[in-house]
Amino acid sequence: MPESQRPTLADATRGRLLFGGDYNPEQWPEETWHEDVRLMKEAGINSVTLGVFSWAKLEPRPGERNFGWLDRLMDLMHAGGIGVVLATPTSSPPPWMGRLHPETLPRDEDGRTEWWGSRQHFSHSSATYRRYAAAITEDLAARYGSHPALRMWHINNEYCTYDWGDEAEAAFRRWLQNRYGTLDALNEAWGTAFWSQGYGDWYEVLPPRRAHYMKNPTQVLDFKRFTSDALLECYLAERDIVARHTPHIPVTTNFMAVWQGLDAWTWAEQEDVVSIDVYPDPRDPFGGQSGALVHDMTRSQARGGPWMVMEQAAGPVNWRGVNHPKPAGLNRLWSLQAVARGADAVCYFQWRQSRQGSEKFHSGMVSHAGEHGRTFQEVKRIGGELAQLSEKVADSRVEAAEVALLLDWNAWWASQQDGRLSSEADHPQVVRAWHRALWEANTTVDFAHPEHDLSAYKLVVVPQLYLMTDAAIGNLVAYVNAGGTLVAGFQTGIADEDDRVRPGGMDVRLRELFGIRVLHEWWPLDAGEKADVEGFHGTLWSEEIEAADDVEAVIPYKGGELDGLPAVLRKGRAWYVSTLPEPHVLRTLLVDIAAEAGVRPTLAGLPAGVEAVRRGGLLFLLNHGRDGVTVPVPGRHRDLLTGADVTDTMELGRYGVAVLELAP
Ligand code: GAL
Repeated sequence: MPESQRPTLADATRGRLLFGGDYNPEQWPEETWHEDVRLMKEAGINSVTLGVFSWAKLEPRPGERNFGWLDRLMDLMHAGGIGVVLATPTSSPPPWMGRLHPETLPRDEDGRTEWWGSRQHFSHSSATYRRYAAAITEDLAARYGSHPALRMWHINNEYCTYDWGDEAEAAFRRWLQNRYGTLDALNEAWGTAFWSQGYGDWYEVLPPRRAHYMKNPTQVLDFKRFTSDALLECYLAERDIVARHTPHIPVTTNFMAVWQGLDAWTWAEQEDVVSIDVYPDPRDPFGGQSGALVHDMTRSQARGGPWMVMEQAAGPVNWRGVNHPKPAGLNRLWSLQAVARGADAVCYFQWRQSRQGSEKFHSGMVSHAGEHGRTFQEVKRIGGELAQLSEKVADSRVEAAEVALLLDWNAWWASQQDGRLSSEADHPQVVRAWHRALWEANTTVDFAHPEHDLSAYKLVVVPQLYLMTDAAIGNLVAYVNAGGTLVAGFQTGIADEDDRVRPGGMDVRLRELFGIRVLHEWWPLDAGEKADVEGFHGTLWSEEIEAADDVEAVIPYKGGELDGLPAVLRKGRAWYVSTLPEPHVLRTLLVDIAAEAGVRPTLAGLPAGVEAVRRGGLLFLLNHGRDGVTVPVPGRHRDLLTGADVTDTMELGRYGVAVLELAP
């Protein structure tokens, strides 16, 4: 089907915001199912995700089918007015598969098998696994494709496995043959002249298994690219099956937040609905920003349209060292924040907290405390409010961002290599720092791939792109030449797409763009070390740069080895920041550059910790602080959540939220 005719999230939401979660009723006796429906209705649940981990129940022995229980559940949900996001169960194969077909089990880089007894123990490259996965998907699609409760397909769950086993080895080799054509080209791209690594036969080429010392970085980079593609093949095989049966039903697979394993730009293009699992730490003082970053990424992957929170936690998770509950109001705040940033579906892992298994201490919407517990009471409130907002919000768009942050998985992968100069300068941490500066300045941002069309943005920010293709560099240069403003952070444009260092240590076109005559040395900083710069401190990294004559403005390093050399350079509309300034300085710098580029914050004069986002003509105000605040909101408005009239200012309590509509 041509992409323009593929269904969208709107085909699943049908004009409402979706509210619900993963429902694992096979863990409970059937009486509980009826109780569940009663509570779901009470809480305004209109969507459940079924079957994510049901393979052993659906196919108890090879080829056998046990659909009766799922038939009853689908009917029960339909009778209760609850739509179903039906998962293919292929992320957790039944034990019989590993026993009968050990080749379906993945192996780690030491050659050790990942056995069944947990989950996600499948080899993406195993032909046997793929055959069984296709068969169960086919039968699910045939059986439930026309069921009236079906709203969406959820393929697998959080694709994330790596595999260094034999079938993966063969598949990696095929992938490389496809990429390079000849061994000579591979040898050239991987730089195998180094350390006597030259390959004379394709069978010598392996996935990067356990080795004595540092592995070939391009081999590792290609293995990450291959893994993302191999998992994508698994997804596409199942997607094509369900799409053939039900061309009108949208398909998704849930991404993990800021997850290295999958190139989400490539994957998102293959989804009708982009969905995400988002779990900020309730104790993290920047949990609100952490959520906003994930929301902005996901919305951007959904090309600005509505997207889905497939999973979040109503209370604690159970996979951190110490797992904190959400204080009263935080679940509501973060749920409405997702809606503000474009989500049309707010769902959880999981509906009812388990009593057994590895996740019994992970929260559910119905916690161990049951329906009278605080967690469920807050869930009910959120359900009610989402229903209230549905009509005005569903299927609307977040106000177009004027700023884009560039992100590329290839650059992230390559930046993580063993032989790098600093493991302190961690890529996601650097991206977070730049996003935080704009979030605190109440400036809505999109994420974009460096080869995307950037012409709609007034400001493009490159937190760090260690590796850049020629096309990406050309794109940035053209963007600035066409009048755009560009700011780049350190370690940008160093390597080409094979991870070969560009002559001069940074691509010459970029050096010209930023006014860098010579990049003499990189000077990474130790953890906690600060570089003195005029007016501020830099962290993580510094650089010994000689500016070109045509550089207009420069903020120099002060003292030490880099004394007097430029820390920040400006040439026309192109800025280069060779260190990571402290948060308030980075914020001020970006605010000034953004203002000069004509970018305006969503709302001026907001108290710290208050986030403002416009969506569908509504103004969402979110107080991430634990204290009440007075917020200036010039004009006359109505708060859609309380019905109250608001003129010029309003009070927001701890974790308070308002959704304002301009008064007529
Ligand atoms: C997700 C996963 C869920 C559940 C959840 C717990 O990664 O998809 O099945 O394990 O984490 O936070």
